[in-house]
Amino acid sequence: EFMNGISEFSVLESQIKDKLQLEQVIIVAGNSDEQTSVKEELGKACVQFLNTILTSNQTIAVTGGTSMAEVANQMKPLLHAPNCTFVPARGGLGEQVENQANTICSQMAKKANGNYRMLYVPDPLSEESYHSIIEEPAIKDILEMIHDARIVLHSIGDAFTMAKRRKASDEVLQKLKTGNAVSEAFGYYLDEQGELVYKVRTVGMQIEDLEHAQYVIAVAGGKSKAKAIQSYFKQGKSNVLITDEAAAKEMLKGN
Ligand code: BG6
Repeated sequence: EFMNGISEFSVLESQIKDKLQLEQVIIVAGNSDEQTSVKEELGKACVQFLNTILTSNQTIAVTGGTSMAEVANQMKPLLHAPNCTFVPARGGLGEQVENQANTICSQMAKKANGNYRMLYVPDPLSEESYHSIIEEPAIKDILEMIHDARIVLHSIGDAFTMAKRRKASDEVLQKLKTGNAVSEAFGYYLDEQGELVYKVRTVGMQIEDLEHAQYVIAVAGGKSKAKAIQSYFKQGKSNVLITDEAAAKEMLKGN
Protein backbone atom coordinates (compact mmCIF):
# COMPACT_ATOMS: atom_id res chain seq x y z
CA GLU A 1 0.00 0.00 0.00
CA PHE A 2 2.67 2.47 1.00
CA MET A 3 4.36 1.98 -2.33
CA ASN A 4 1.87 4.18 -4.12
CA GLY A 5 1.75 6.60 -1.26
CA ILE A 6 -1.71 5.62 -0.05
CA SER A 7 -1.72 4.27 3.43
CA GLU A 8 -4.33 3.96 6.12
CA PHE A 9 -1.97 5.97 8.28
CA SER A 10 -0.80 8.67 5.92
CA VAL A 11 -1.73 11.50 8.32
CA LEU A 12 -0.02 9.83 11.26
CA GLU A 13 2.98 9.07 9.06
CA SER A 14 3.42 12.68 8.07
CA GLN A 15 3.02 13.86 11.68
CA ILE A 16 5.79 11.52 12.80
CA LYS A 17 7.91 12.51 9.83
CA ASP A 18 7.69 16.15 10.89
CA LYS A 19 8.19 15.43 14.53
CA LEU A 20 11.29 13.30 14.09
CA GLN A 21 12.56 15.07 10.98
CA LEU A 22 12.68 12.00 8.79
CA GLU A 23 12.57 11.38 5.08
CA GLN A 24 10.13 8.52 5.28
CA VAL A 25 7.88 6.91 7.85
CA ILE A 26 5.89 3.72 7.40
CA ILE A 27 3.28 2.77 10.01
CA VAL A 28 1.54 -0.57 10.45
CA ALA A 29 -1.65 -1.10 12.48
CA GLY A 30 -1.63 -2.17 16.13
CA ASN A 31 0.83 -2.48 18.99
CA SER A 32 3.71 -4.92 18.70
CA ASP A 33 4.09 -5.01 22.49
CA GLU A 34 0.78 -6.84 22.61
CA GLN A 35 0.56 -8.82 19.41
CA THR A 36 3.26 -10.78 17.68
CA SER A 37 1.40 -10.42 14.40
CA VAL A 38 2.17 -6.69 14.49
CA LYS A 39 5.89 -7.41 14.63
CA GLU A 40 5.43 -9.66 11.62
CA GLU A 41 3.78 -6.76 9.81
CA LEU A 42 6.74 -4.55 10.68
CA GLY A 43 9.00 -7.19 9.18
CA LYS A 44 6.89 -7.42 6.04
CA ALA A 45 6.79 -3.65 5.62
CA CYS A 46 10.57 -3.54 5.90
CA VAL A 47 11.04 -6.27 3.29
CA GLN A 48 8.61 -4.49 0.97
CA PHE A 49 10.46 -1.21 1.41
CA LEU A 50 13.81 -2.89 0.77
CA ASN A 51 12.42 -4.27 -2.45
CA THR A 52 11.66 -0.77 -3.66
CA ILE A 53 15.14 0.64 -2.97
CA LEU A 54 17.60 -2.21 -3.51
CA THR A 55 19.62 -2.62 -6.65
CA SER A 56 22.18 -5.29 -7.48
CA ASN A 57 25.56 -5.76 -5.78
CA GLN A 58 24.78 -3.74 -2.68
CA THR A 59 25.91 -4.31 0.87
CA ILE A 60 23.32 -4.27 3.62
CA ALA A 61 24.45 -4.03 7.24
CA VAL A 62 22.07 -5.53 9.76
CA THR A 63 21.90 -5.37 13.56
CA GLY A 64 20.54 -7.96 15.97
CA GLY A 65 17.38 -8.10 18.07
CA THR A 66 13.91 -9.60 17.78
CA SER A 67 12.64 -6.96 15.35
CA MET A 68 15.46 -7.69 12.91
CA ALA A 69 14.91 -11.42 13.44
CA GLU A 70 11.35 -10.85 12.25
CA VAL A 71 12.58 -8.96 9.19
CA ALA A 72 14.71 -12.04 8.43
CA ASN A 73 11.66 -14.25 8.91
CA GLN A 74 9.68 -12.23 6.39
CA MET A 75 12.49 -11.93 3.85
CA LYS A 76 11.77 -13.00 0.28
CA PRO A 77 14.02 -13.44 -2.74
CA LEU A 78 15.18 -10.02 -3.89
CA LEU A 79 14.45 -10.55 -7.54
CA HIS A 80 15.50 -7.12 -8.78
CA ALA A 81 18.63 -6.96 -6.70
CA PRO A 82 20.87 -9.94 -7.39
CA ASN A 83 24.19 -10.42 -5.68
CA CYS A 84 23.56 -8.36 -2.57
CA THR A 85 25.60 -9.09 0.55
CA PHE A 86 24.35 -8.99 4.12
CA VAL A 87 26.84 -8.17 6.85
CA PRO A 88 26.38 -7.81 10.60
CA ALA A 89 26.64 -4.18 11.65
CA ARG A 90 28.54 -4.81 14.86
CA GLY A 91 29.65 -7.62 17.16
CA GLY A 92 27.23 -9.71 19.20
CA LEU A 93 26.72 -6.99 21.85
CA GLY A 94 26.06 -9.62 24.51
CA GLU A 95 22.88 -10.92 22.88
CA GLN A 96 21.81 -14.56 22.78
CA VAL A 97 22.65 -16.34 19.55
CA GLU A 98 19.19 -16.04 17.99
CA ASN A 99 19.25 -12.30 18.56
CA GLN A 100 22.75 -11.75 17.22
CA ALA A 101 23.42 -9.86 14.03
CA ASN A 102 25.53 -12.72 12.59
CA THR A 103 22.67 -15.18 12.90
CA ILE A 104 20.10 -12.78 11.53
CA CYS A 105 22.10 -11.63 8.55
CA SER A 106 22.85 -15.19 7.46
CA GLN A 107 19.13 -15.98 7.59
CA MET A 108 18.25 -12.85 5.67
CA ALA A 109 20.80 -13.69 3.01
CA LYS A 110 19.55 -17.24 2.58
CA LYS A 111 15.96 -16.15 2.13
CA ALA A 112 16.89 -13.25 -0.13
CA ASN A 113 19.13 -15.46 -2.28
CA GLY A 114 21.97 -13.15 -1.36
CA ASN A 115 25.44 -13.54 0.09
CA TYR A 116 26.58 -12.97 3.64
CA ARG A 117 29.74 -12.45 5.64
CA MET A 118 30.23 -13.07 9.31
CA LEU A 119 32.00 -11.00 11.92
CA TYR A 120 33.53 -13.16 14.62
CA VAL A 121 34.53 -11.02 17.55
CA PRO A 122 33.95 -11.41 21.25
CA ASP A 123 32.37 -8.47 22.96
CA PRO A 124 32.56 -6.29 24.82
CA LEU A 125 36.24 -5.99 23.91
CA SER A 126 39.03 -4.67 26.06
CA GLU A 127 40.83 -1.62 24.73
CA GLU A 128 43.89 -3.78 24.09
CA SER A 129 42.18 -6.57 22.12
CA TYR A 130 40.17 -4.01 20.22
CA HIS A 131 43.33 -2.50 18.75
CA SER A 132 44.86 -5.84 17.78
CA ILE A 133 41.65 -7.34 16.41
CA ILE A 134 41.02 -4.52 13.95
CA GLU A 135 44.45 -5.22 12.46
CA GLU A 136 43.61 -8.84 11.61
CA PRO A 137 43.38 -9.08 7.79
CA ALA A 138 40.16 -11.15 7.77
CA ILE A 139 38.50 -8.76 10.19
CA LYS A 140 39.81 -5.70 8.36
CA ASP A 141 38.21 -6.92 5.19
CA ILE A 142 34.72 -7.31 6.60
CA LEU A 143 35.03 -4.10 8.62
CA GLU A 144 35.60 -2.29 5.37
CA MET A 145 32.44 -3.80 3.90
CA ILE A 146 30.47 -2.76 6.98
CA HIS A 147 31.89 0.72 6.82
CA ASP A 148 30.88 1.06 3.16
CA ALA A 149 27.40 -0.48 3.47
CA ARG A 150 24.90 1.46 1.42
CA ILE A 151 21.94 0.27 3.42
CA VAL A 152 21.74 -0.17 7.17
CA LEU A 153 18.88 -1.99 8.87
CA HIS A 154 18.55 -1.68 12.62
CA SER A 155 16.17 -1.51 15.53
CA ILE A 156 15.99 0.68 18.61
CA GLY A 157 15.52 -0.56 22.15
CA ASP A 158 14.59 0.83 25.52
CA ALA A 159 17.90 1.37 27.34
CA PHE A 160 17.21 -0.66 30.48
CA THR A 161 15.35 -3.44 28.71
CA MET A 162 18.38 -3.89 26.48
CA ALA A 163 20.97 -3.61 29.24
CA LYS A 164 19.18 -6.28 31.27
CA ARG A 165 18.66 -8.56 28.28
CA ARG A 166 22.39 -8.33 27.60
CA LYS A 167 23.21 -8.95 31.24
CA ALA A 168 25.12 -5.71 31.63
CA SER A 169 27.23 -5.44 34.78
CA ASP A 170 26.10 -3.46 37.82
CA GLU A 171 28.70 -0.89 36.95
CA VAL A 172 27.21 -0.36 33.51
CA LEU A 173 23.67 -0.29 34.87
CA GLN A 174 24.77 2.38 37.31
CA LYS A 175 26.26 4.46 34.51
CA LEU A 176 23.02 4.19 32.56
CA LYS A 177 21.04 5.24 35.59
CA THR A 178 23.23 8.21 36.43
CA GLY A 179 23.22 9.31 32.80
CA ASN A 180 19.43 8.86 32.46
CA ALA A 181 19.74 6.54 29.48
CA VAL A 182 16.55 6.16 27.50
CA SER A 183 17.38 4.40 24.25
CA GLU A 184 19.83 1.93 22.82
CA ALA A 185 20.84 1.29 19.23
CA PHE A 186 24.01 -0.33 17.82
CA GLY A 187 25.31 -0.72 21.37
CA TYR A 188 25.04 3.04 21.98
CA TYR A 189 22.98 4.10 24.99
CA LEU A 190 21.51 7.60 24.65
CA ASP A 191 19.62 9.98 26.93
CA GLU A 192 16.43 11.87 26.15
CA GLN A 193 18.35 14.50 24.19
CA GLY A 194 20.10 11.85 22.14
CA GLU A 195 23.42 12.40 23.92
CA LEU A 196 25.72 9.44 24.45
CA VAL A 197 25.59 7.94 27.95
CA TYR A 198 27.50 4.73 27.37
CA LYS A 199 28.76 2.67 24.47
CA VAL A 200 29.58 -1.05 24.27
CA ARG A 201 33.12 -1.33 22.96
CA THR A 202 33.15 -3.59 19.95
CA VAL A 203 34.19 -3.51 16.31
CA GLY A 204 31.92 -2.76 13.38
CA MET A 205 29.65 0.10 12.58
CA GLN A 206 30.05 3.22 14.66
CA ILE A 207 27.28 5.78 14.77
CA GLU A 208 29.39 8.20 12.69
CA ASP A 209 29.53 5.62 9.87
CA LEU A 210 25.81 5.98 9.33
CA GLU A 211 26.48 9.18 7.47
CA HIS A 212 28.02 7.25 4.57
CA ALA A 213 24.96 5.09 4.04
CA GLN A 214 22.25 6.07 1.64
CA TYR A 215 19.44 4.47 3.61
CA VAL A 216 19.50 3.94 7.33
CA ILE A 217 16.28 2.15 8.16
CA ALA A 218 15.04 1.76 11.73
CA VAL A 219 12.40 -0.88 12.46
CA ALA A 220 10.99 -0.33 15.94
CA GLY A 221 7.46 -0.55 17.23
CA GLY A 222 5.39 -0.97 20.39
CA LYS A 223 4.07 1.66 22.76
CA SER A 224 6.90 0.82 25.19
CA LYS A 225 9.49 2.00 22.65
CA ALA A 226 8.00 5.46 22.03
CA LYS A 227 10.46 7.33 24.27
CA ALA A 228 13.40 5.31 23.02
CA ILE A 229 12.55 6.01 19.38
CA GLN A 230 12.34 9.75 20.06
CA SER A 231 15.62 9.74 21.94
CA TYR A 232 17.42 7.85 19.18
CA PHE A 233 16.21 10.19 16.45
CA LYS A 234 17.61 13.20 18.29
CA GLN A 235 20.90 11.88 16.91
CA GLY A 236 19.28 12.20 13.51
CA LYS A 237 21.38 9.55 11.82
CA SER A 238 18.65 7.37 10.32
CA ASN A 239 16.33 8.53 7.57
CA VAL A 240 13.57 5.93 7.48
CA LEU A 241 11.40 4.67 10.35
CA ILE A 242 9.13 1.65 10.14
CA THR A 243 6.96 1.59 13.24
CA ASP A 244 3.50 0.74 14.50
CA GLU A 245 0.39 2.72 15.29
CA ALA A 246 0.79 2.42 19.09
CA ALA A 247 4.36 3.76 19.14
CA ALA A 248 3.42 6.56 16.74
CA LYS A 249 0.39 7.69 18.74
CA GLU A 250 2.35 7.58 21.99
CA MET A 251 5.09 9.75 20.47
CA LEU A 252 2.58 12.40 19.50
CA LYS A 253 1.15 12.44 23.03
CA GLY A 254 4.57 12.88 24.55
CA ASN A 255 4.87 16.09 22.57
C1 BG6 B 1 18.92 -4.30 17.61
C2 BG6 B 1 19.85 -3.20 17.89
O1 BG6 B 1 18.71 -4.29 16.25
O2 BG6 B 1 17.66 -4.14 18.18
C3 BG6 B 1 19.75 -2.83 19.29
O3 BG6 B 1 21.19 -3.55 17.63
C4 BG6 B 1 18.33 -2.56 19.69
O4 BG6 B 1 20.56 -1.74 19.39
C5 BG6 B 1 17.60 -3.83 19.53
O5 BG6 B 1 18.21 -2.08 20.97
C6 BG6 B 1 16.15 -3.88 19.92
O6 BG6 B 1 15.78 -5.22 20.05
P1 BG6 B 1 14.37 -5.76 19.82
O7 BG6 B 1 14.43 -7.16 20.29
O8 BG6 B 1 13.46 -4.92 20.64
O9 BG6 B 1 14.10 -5.65 18.37
